[in-house]
Amino acid sequence: MSDFYKKLKKPFFVLAPMEDVTDFAFREMFARYAKPDVLYTEFTSSDGLVSEGRINMEKDLLYSEKQRPVVAQLFTSKPENMRKSCLIVKELGFDGIDINMGCPDKSIEKQNCGADLIKNPQKAIELIEAASSVGLPLSVKTRLGYNTTEIDTWIKTILQQKIKALTIHLRTRKEMSKVPADWEHMKKIKEMRDEISPETLIIGNGDVLDIDQAKKLADKYKCDGIMIGRGAYGNPWFFSGYMPTVTKKLDVLIEHTELFIKTFGKTKSFNVMKKHYKAYVNGFRGAKELRIKLMESKEIKDIKKHIADFCSENEDLA
Ligand SMILES: Cc1cc2nc3c(=O)[nH]c(=O)nc-3n(C[C@H](O)[C@H](O)[C@H](O)COP(=O)(O)O)c2cc1C
Repeated sequence: MSDFYKKLKKPFFVLAPMEDVTDFAFREMFARYAKPDVLYTEFTSSDGLVSEGRINMEKDLLYSEKQRPVVAQLFTSKPENMRKSCLIVKELGFDGIDINMGCPDKSIEKQNCGADLIKNPQKAIELIEAASSVGLPLSVKTRLGYNTTEIDTWIKTILQQKIKALTIHLRTRKEMSKVPADWEHMKKIKEMRDEISPETLIIGNGDVLDIDQAKKLADKYKCDGIMIGRGAYGNPWFFSGYMPTVTKKLDVLIEHTELFIKTFGKTKSFNVMKKHYKAYVNGFRGAKELRIKLMESKEIKDIKKHIADFCSENEDLA
């Protein structure tokens, strides 16, 4: 299996996995307008994938050729389910597998998954071994530690597994997203990587708001890659730095909505799509009023009408 990580120029830029955000339609918009170097799916339950409910999970694992290299993110606490789900992901043709070891959501931690694995490094090792056996390039996404920064213990353990890439969201589990990401920890993590596993690529993550900032952070902290999540909401041009006009943004909102309906019309609530409107329709004159109308709309024809009316009344924003 070819290792796409070896072909990436450095620094490289990655669209973060985000549940109910980075679905097929969202990723496709980025692939069309300004593709990042790597895209991740939302996290997907390995236990669900290997169960009879597999069909419900597979909607999270849709991708197009344009989105390559595309990585499937998985979570479970059961090594055997990890192995089996990685085989499914391989069959589906993904370029890589990422294991979620950072999600602080209580429902995930209750299953001994996500950030809970920081408290159980032996289980984390078993999961990595199970996923590695399938042969796709393997990465892990985690946090600095659980209650405190645990670079000397937790991050070290993961690096010792010689995975292809390690993404570190530069906060602890306890910090959730309440404090700013602390990029200064990157220095120590990089030194440790150079010593323990020089082949493992280090990807920094947390609070990056634009591509220039991402490039500066990569330069300052010498990370191999930078992963961006919330900063890219409602902006499929994020990775090029292009600033679209308001009408261009609204055109893309319609394109995104149409693609969402075509892909998930029968399987996902339309409210999942509407969450993106907050980001698309923001920061310009009349945005709030337009957003309210869009949030109240039930059909694409109403959304198109509100946008057409807005554009004809605000030609100067084109
Ligand atoms: C709505 C939402 C959903 C998320 N879902 C996931 C997920 O499925 N898997 C994961 O590893 N991280 C998930 N995260 C965390 C992000 O990938 C990222 O680590 C975090 O938002 C910090 O990066 P940012 O400041 O660039 O957004 C999610 C974050 C948000 C806001």
